[in-house]
Amino acid sequence: MPFNRSIKIAPSILAADFANFGAECRAIEAQGADWVHVDVMDGHFVPNLTFGATMCAALRPHIKGVMDVHLMIAPVDPYLEAYAKAGADIITAHVEAGSHIHRTLQAIRMLGKKAGIAVNPGTAVEAVAELLDMVDLVCVMTVSPGFGGQSFIESQLEKIARLRAMIGDRPVHIEVDGGVTTATAPLVAKAGADVLVAGSAVFKGGSASVPEAYGVNMAAIRAAAEAAIG
Ligand code: DX5
Ligand code: ZN
Repeated sequence: MPFNRSIKIAPSILAADFANFGAECRAIEAQGADWVHVDVMDGHFVPNLTFGATMCAALRPHIKGVMDVHLMIAPVDPYLEAYAKAGADIITAHVEAGSHIHRTLQAIRMLGKKAGIAVNPGTAVEAVAELLDMVDLVCVMTVSPGFGGQSFIESQLEKIARLRAMIGDRPVHIEVDGGVTTATAPLVAKAGADVLVAGSAVFKGGSASVPEAYGVNMAAIRAAAEAAIG
């Protein structure tokens, strides 16, 4: 995974057909997805439950590229090894998930994985200031995590811009997750994000057997973001 700041589209399979995940992953990659974003929810840290490491392991053979696992779970430390073994390339934990996030990030890197830290809308991005040398990605949540299809929270744009300045020359991606559409993609790209997670805006109008809509949707989001940064 060589580092670059070009715009990457990471469809969230939270908006895919849960009965057809393998085919959905193959379809979005064939249609131009850069990464596949996998949302793990525990019904405790967030008010919704999706699936765990066994599902991630089952998905792995269907994803050729980057498997980006977003853990919305607490506690998180006891489960890191399972997600590493499941074949995640990036493991992202929430800064709000426990009191010892520094240890969590160390553990992810010890497992040989890229480490991500996610920040909820109500958390100041300065909460990750001491962690920037030990992460590969900061995920700014632009909705309160738990559900797809929510509205983008505009106040997070300023946070993304502040984070971009804090990161400086470090090889750290800024990922934005929640409410990304052709309307909001230019705003987050301009503020400094390079990884755009999108669920409903990618999967709308298509299916694994009619995947062309996924390609059209991703191309539109990418074009809108790229146009904003020139
Ligand atoms: C929210 C998840 C997101 C979500 C994005 O808790 O982390 O990845 O699925 O979905 P949309 O793009 O529909 O807001
Ligand atoms: Zn996510």
